[in-house]
Amino acid sequence: MPNPTPVRDDPAYPEAYADFVREHPGYASAALDAERAGDFGRLDRRGDVYLDYTGGGVYAESHVRDHLALLVDQVFGNPHSSNPTSLAMTERVESARRAILTHFRADPDEYVAIFTPNASGALKLVAESYPFAPGGTFLLTYDNHNSVNGIREFAGARGAAVVYVPLRPPELRLDADALGHALDAPRSDARRLFAYPAQSNFSGVLHPLAWIDRARERGWDVLLDAAAFAPTHALDLASVRPDFVTLSFYKMFGYPTGVGALLARREALTRLRRPWFAGGTIAYASVSAPRHDLHEGAEAFEDGTLNYLALPAVEAGLRRLANGRQAAIDARVMALTGWTLGRLAALRHDNGRPLVQVYGPLDAVARGGAIAFNLHGADGAVIDHREVERRANGERISLRTGCFCNPGAGEAALGISGDELASCFATHDRMTIDAFRGCLDGKGSGAVRVSFGHASTFADAFALVRLLRGFRA
Ligand SMILES: Cc1ncc(COP(=O)(O)O)c(C=O)c1O
Repeated sequence: MPNPTPVRDDPAYPEAYADFVREHPGYASAALDAERAGDFGRLDRRGDVYLDYTGGGVYAESHVRDHLALLVDQVFGNPHSSNPTSLAMTERVESARRAILTHFRADPDEYVAIFTPNASGALKLVAESYPFAPGGTFLLTYDNHNSVNGIREFAGARGAAVVYVPLRPPELRLDADALGHALDAPRSDARRLFAYPAQSNFSGVLHPLAWIDRARERGWDVLLDAAAFAPTHALDLASVRPDFVTLSFYKMFGYPTGVGALLARREALTRLRRPWFAGGTIAYASVSAPRHDLHEGAEAFEDGTLNYLALPAVEAGLRRLANGRQAAIDARVMALTGWTLGRLAALRHDNGRPLVQVYGPLDAVARGGAIAFNLHGADGAVIDHREVERRANGERISLRTGCFCNPGAGEAALGISGDELASCFATHDRMTIDAFRGCLDGKGSGAVRVSFGHASTFADAFALVRLLRGFRA
């Protein structure tokens, strides 16, 4: 039964809110409250409880309006030409590029910003161009998005070893001993790439950025996937210097979609070998005498025409996170995450059994604002995450279910072993998610994820806890 009472009219809400703000003073932000009422006011007007910021941010109304006003006012041409409208666009493109480097405190003498369609596009640029070779290694953590896992296809095809570093349940942090050991492995002449996420898109764990220097000191190239981290954290490329950083801007501020970036150290970029060339990437190409020379720097990696009209909105989005706004969002997100974790732990069935099993850290330390969990019935059996989603949908609560494109963390969380998977795969020519569910005996095949972000408020967290309380028996 959908809960008919709007959250703020719930009799328990005022006291819960008063307790919350007393316990979490970091939540207070008049600026964020004003934004929620104005720029994000449509959430409350529509009765939407948005809890999928790791999936995608919510765009501010004025962000979209300002961008449309710019487009309506100006005339922009394809930046590949040299006419006035093209030059006007080129100026905006380069300005957006500079703004990205400034936002991440990246020295333009050391880093370039390459525009891509999304984080996956940035990852694929590295994947297809990295000099994987026999004797080399692609080292990655169990906790990675599939767009990082997919790099192993290029590494394996070119004869490099693919090595995974495990996670330690229940917190799902990296096994530091195993990672230290893997990084210390003797090297050959072939290059080695280490990839990991700054923040897990499954458990919200913040994996230490200190691994970057440690790996680079041992001769590894380091790819830091910042897609889930960048929306609520400052990534300071003046103090940590991964060779490659990947991200999507819609996750940072909801708009525009279709633009991501690969931030690359110029020196690391010279090691990449592009497998082809395309319009926009070449300084020169000939057909009669086949030869091509790529541009130097970012342009060599930007295939065809950029999503150029969207780029001024990227720069505007970054401005919205400046002047302490991102830190205020982070503080708010962590207050909501801490409160929610506490409430989830307290939810019990009448027989005393816990309702919620959280996968990942149980407190707000060294983690971000994503919480993955499953519900268990009074008999201890897992409640199918699809049922949780169905009931959430009934209350206009947007959360995420499944394995969130992060199968390694999911398998570690749910205790699904490689042997179990292998015997399951052996009975299926083609694996589907339904066939996979059939193989797992009562373990659950995925989880529920809620994630907080820019426009989140206490009312959103309260709505979630109220929904879950309805599963108690
Ligand atoms: C950690 C992480 N990496 C990479 C991606 C891929 O991003 P995109 O789908 O924008 O390419 C995601 C998306 O959820 C993510 O959370």
